[in-house]
Amino acid sequence: MNGHYLEVVEAEALHRRICELGATISADYSGLNPVLVGVLKGSVPFIADLIRCIDTPHEVDFLLLTRFGSKGRVAVAMDTAISLEGRHVLLVEDIVDTGLTLSTLRRNLSVRQPESLRTVALLDKVPRRIVDVPLEYRGFEIGDEFLVGYGLDWEGRYRNLPGLWAVMQMDRLQDIHETFPAVAFGSGTT
Ligand code: IMP
Repeated sequence: MNGHYLEVVEAEALHRRICELGATISADYSGLNPVLVGVLKGSVPFIADLIRCIDTPHEVDFLLLTRFGSKGRVAVAMDTAISLEGRHVLLVEDIVDTGLTLSTLRRNLSVRQPESLRTVALLDKVPRRIVDVPLEYRGFEIGDEFLVGYGLDWEGRYRNLPGLWAVMQMDRLQDIHETFPAVAFGSGTT
């Protein structure tokens, strides 16, 4: 750690926890052929690892959200290819922060009359929640620090980092972006 960033969950710990979630989901959805819907783009590494820890038959689809205005308003920019009507739907999210995105998404998907609708989020930023929204499965409970890596980005960057990093000084990200990825991949010095 050099004062600007700190690794909060290493890749190995992420994979261990994701496989625990996968085992729970496998048991809960046995025989139900659920559709796992990854919310692009942040959920990509998570869903890729999660499905390899789920040993019951399921399908995978994605949707992409766009944000507009304030108050976390979102619209579906790219929809699922699979119809969700009558299906057991499990939304796969990277992080739930205020809860506004998830609550809008749940409203949007409920209209399609799925048989059931649940969410798995890798990260739950509990202290930041402003909307009380159901979150059935979560990987880690975290504080209100800004995280990058393992799908989470800052201005489109750092989704590729294997672990999760807290950025201590957001205003310094511009200055450190040359050295940070090397450190996060374990080939640089802290
Ligand atoms: P919401 O506040 O629950 O609606 O979360 C909105 C979105 O903010 C999430 O889906 C993430 O894309 C983004 N977000 C929230 N916290 C972080 C973070 O710590 N790092 C990167 N993106 C975040």
